[in-house]
Amino acid sequence: MRTDTGQIVNLADYRPTDFVLERVDLTFELDPTNTKVDARLIFHRREGVDLKAPLVLDGDELKLSGLLFDQREVPASQYDATPELLTIRDLPAEAPFEITVTTYINPEANTQLMGLYRTNGIYCTQCEAEGFRRITYFPDRPDVLAPYTITIIGDKAANPVMLSNGNFLGGAGYDEGRAFAAWFDPHPKPSYLFALVAGDLGVIEDKFVTMSEREVTLKIYVEHGKEDRASYAMDALKRSMKWDEERFGREYDLDIFQIVAVSDFNMGAMENKGLNVFNDKYVLADPATATDQDYANIEAIIAHEYFHNWTGNRITCRDWFQLCLKEGLTVYRDHEFSADMRSRPVKRIAEVRHLKSEQFPEDAGPLAHPVRPTVYREINNFYTTTVYEKGSEVTRMIATLLGADGFKAGMDLYFERHDGDAATVENFVKCFEDANGRDLSQFSRWYHQAGTPLVSVSTAYEADKFTLTLEQTVPATPGQTTKEPMHIPLSFALILDNGSIAEPASVSGGEVTGDVLHLTERSQTFVFTGISSRPVLSLNRSFSAPINLSFDQTTEDLVHIARHDSDLFSRWQALTDLALPNLIKATSDARDGKPVTCDQAFIAALLEATADTKLEPAFRAQALALPSESDIARELGCNNNPDAIHDGRQAVLALIAEAGRDTFLSLTEEMRIEGAFTPDAASAGKRALRNSALGYLALAENTPARAAEAFAKADNMTDLAQALTLLAHRFPDSTEAKDALDTFAKRFADNPLVIDKWFLIQATIPGEDALARVKALMENERFNASNPNRVRSLVGAFAFSNATGFNRADGEGYGFLATQILAIDPKNPQLAARILTSMRSWRSLESARADHARDALMEIERAPQLSTDVRDIVERMLK
Ligand code: ARG
Ligand code: ZN
Repeated sequence: MRTDTGQIVNLADYRPTDFVLERVDLTFELDPTNTKVDARLIFHRREGVDLKAPLVLDGDELKLSGLLFDQREVPASQYDATPELLTIRDLPAEAPFEITVTTYINPEANTQLMGLYRTNGIYCTQCEAEGFRRITYFPDRPDVLAPYTITIIGDKAANPVMLSNGNFLGGAGYDEGRAFAAWFDPHPKPSYLFALVAGDLGVIEDKFVTMSEREVTLKIYVEHGKEDRASYAMDALKRSMKWDEERFGREYDLDIFQIVAVSDFNMGAMENKGLNVFNDKYVLADPATATDQDYANIEAIIAHEYFHNWTGNRITCRDWFQLCLKEGLTVYRDHEFSADMRSRPVKRIAEVRHLKSEQFPEDAGPLAHPVRPTVYREINNFYTTTVYEKGSEVTRMIATLLGADGFKAGMDLYFERHDGDAATVENFVKCFEDANGRDLSQFSRWYHQAGTPLVSVSTAYEADKFTLTLEQTVPATPGQTTKEPMHIPLSFALILDNGSIAEPASVSGGEVTGDVLHLTERSQTFVFTGISSRPVLSLNRSFSAPINLSFDQTTEDLVHIARHDSDLFSRWQALTDLALPNLIKATSDARDGKPVTCDQAFIAALLEATADTKLEPAFRAQALALPSESDIARELGCNNNPDAIHDGRQAVLALIAEAGRDTFLSLTEEMRIEGAFTPDAASAGKRALRNSALGYLALAENTPARAAEAFAKADNMTDLAQALTLLAHRFPDSTEAKDALDTFAKRFADNPLVIDKWFLIQATIPGEDALARVKALMENERFNASNPNRVRSLVGAFAFSNATGFNRADGEGYGFLATQILAIDPKNPQLAARILTSMRSWRSLESARADHARDALMEIERAPQLSTDVRDIVERMLK
């Protein structure tokens, strides 16, 4: 394990390398435990760089076995090699020279899953962010770009497939039992985009004809026998390629595009040039084993990685502080893709739910950081929801500010001006400024100031004048105590009694473009004239800005929005805003042992939307989902008692269930789908609404019978997993639940990805028994502590998604997590650090739980050996 080196990296220290890398030529002689890597690197000294400056190459746990300068041995006096650095002195002034570095690495022993490692007998790499330095000594930073030639030599029988980036040059068996394959990637790229895959894999093949009529071969590699389950991913890939041409004018640029699905992977997937490597969870799907959510995730992630070919690969990042330049932008692109493939408002609702439940807590806690940070200790800890999802929201706001044409003009300029560059966020913003003649300097604060802005709203209506006063504050975050006002684009509508939208005669008080108000001051008053009757204000429609609103709207006004807004997102938001005060009151009632009550107007509005056949089923299901327990916790802000939140929310659900019993009963019939399963969004929406109705009915009837029947009759994984969840979560002690869990485990015994659902469903059964259940499951033969998907499904799901079980009043949940983190860390620091972030909101717990949580964090902090990853997270959480 690489333990903490304590080095802090500052953006302000950025400077280009002294040596320019011209070409990379790598030869791998594969061996499971002793792979030989020869790296031939051509460099020249950058103009003006001091003659005494040495060439410094990064390493990580490396041992140098050979070093040549222009094919001659380098005398020991001329270099120093440690596991982390190779320093070579006395190099030529200007002329290019060749350095050949030889290292031997052990893929089998690589449990970090960074660099070259083995997964189910397959060789595979993950190099982003700094994994390439675990393969060979190299200037391992994103602003060093070069074309790569790769030769792979390996045992022929074990490695019928040998892949790398770019186009295939050639290959064959070259002697007894050995084979080789050579690849050339002409597009200069940084080392983090390098990939190598070798082994015995099955493949499906297809082709795509680009807009300039070039034919591209498409291949998806999976483990043998899983080929049929890759066809949806292939379909999603072709749709992504077409969409990027039509929407962004971006064409693919190699003869071949390949995807490999592997079963041990730290993240979702990786956009290596021409050779994407995926967690198999985001490739494999068929109706019997994948849920609608799985299909949607596959579509989104296939698109995301493909879109990186332009936003990430052709234009990459100058340094890792610019990570949002590729990630925020590419998430925005994949969101737009999914919105076009599915229902735009429903997609937006799902995005905002995710943003609020994941990014808002990060931004409000000890791990808060700007979208474009200025300092880090471990870059792996900055692949965060702030960089990704808030980064996407910032891109979306640029599109809102500039309009579709202005945004397109800026993107076109970005591709034209920076193709082939390692760029910065400033470069990106400048393109939108230049293409639109607009100053975005205040807007850029979204990249630099952490924390979710809070906008307080007050309104008045008199004669024909509507007055709107907005005040913004940005909360203090670690390292940033004072903040400047942001430029916040707020989409709005003034909705009249009859549901139509008012057209004001005039607006004063600030810039208004179309239906967007520009809030730029700390406090600003907009006055609208020519409004014939008191309107209802719908604000931040479509969630045009990632902010919190403090706006005391009456129940009547919210019901009016929920009925009439032409923006479906806002109708959902209004229903959520109606629900929240009820859930909060229910929390305190539950805590005080009082009976929980609920506002009838809220229930009526929710059931009205539920029964409204003009609304798409997926929307109605989203409304019925209600704010989650973590949404309620966030709204409460501090002194949280997860048991009270859970009990109060369950009581409100029961009241809705009782009131809506007939509606739910008829939905179980109306939403039934006849015929074969299809994963399209409309069918998925019907299943979601039907399963939601079944959930409410189970509450109203308080018997597992209906869920057991649904489990028995399910002909697809969506319905099956929903029924199992319902049984296990609502009736955990029933024989029906136990039988269903057993049946499920037996039926899918040979499919680890489905067994992950079985782990997750059990790990998230509410209540304090969960801990014992999780501990028992860790002993289950199907569990595997070194597979990241298994660990996330059991330990991760427990810590992230079981508020009552994890936050047991006695603190045992935290103690368990500390033990697990310390066990995972030596093997896989990235995974350990990621799961530890589940405790990021510990300070907002009530004091007894917070004390236990602190003890657990301190236990981790005190451990004698910690990875940089875990040390960085634990120290920031305790600061
Ligand atoms: N770039 C990948 C993506 O598309 C994520 C890679 C993250 N890797 C890591 N070591 N943190 O999102
Ligand atoms: Zn990405």
